[in-house]
Amino acid sequence: MTIQIAPSILSADFCNLERDLHAIANADLVHVDVMDHHFVPNLTLGEPIVKRICEVSPLPVDVHLMIEDPDRWAPEFAKCGARSVTFHMGATHAPVRLARQLRDMGCMACFAVRPAEPVEPIFDILEEFDMILIMTVEPGFGGQKFLANQMAKTRRLRDEITRRGLDTHIQVDGGVSPSTAHIVAEAGADVLVAGSAVYCADDPAKAIDEIRNNAQA
Ligand code: DX5
Ligand code: ZN
Repeated sequence: MTIQIAPSILSADFCNLERDLHAIANADLVHVDVMDHHFVPNLTLGEPIVKRICEVSPLPVDVHLMIEDPDRWAPEFAKCGARSVTFHMGATHAPVRLARQLRDMGCMACFAVRPAEPVEPIFDILEEFDMILIMTVEPGFGGQKFLANQMAKTRRLRDEITRRGLDTHIQVDGGVSPSTAHIVAEAGADVLVAGSAVYCADDPAKAIDEIRNNAQA
């Protein structure tokens, strides 16, 4: 399985964002965390900044919405030029309608579960999504400890995707580093988000290579 690395700019320097977007050009995607002070107790950025990131980023933009009412707001982020938009199970009222709306706009539709949320309810609507995000920390902040107890869920999802012959990606987000990369890859994840492990490293490009190599080992 081809592993994709998606550095999260949550741990970048927001005053040197263009520089930091270019520092990760050896990754596959850039992961942009949108938080609203309601769905999670943190606040990051909105559409005008996401639009500029999409314009200057050398990599495709993967938007992770940690906001209430994604049914209303997610299409706005697709309009900004994001390649994929992820919204949370606990926030949406009509996930299938929203996924179809995003795909109609040419954007990949992705569905996220928090650590205490089961993945099985998604099985019935799996074909509607391009990627499922398994959170490996409680969403809201970078730099938290990796939750290894999410790996059983990741494995069950990978088994279901394989059994049905689908090409759905599995993304993991939270605590991914050179030392946990092989654990998530072994469990079946193929899109690895890493914030602090990339941007707090002395050499972000080298950290990306290490995560990729360890995941593929
Ligand atoms: C947390 C965000 C993550 C965050 C991960 O809620 O969704 O994308 O940046 O940070 P690390 O990799 O430091 O755990
Ligand atoms: Zn994220």
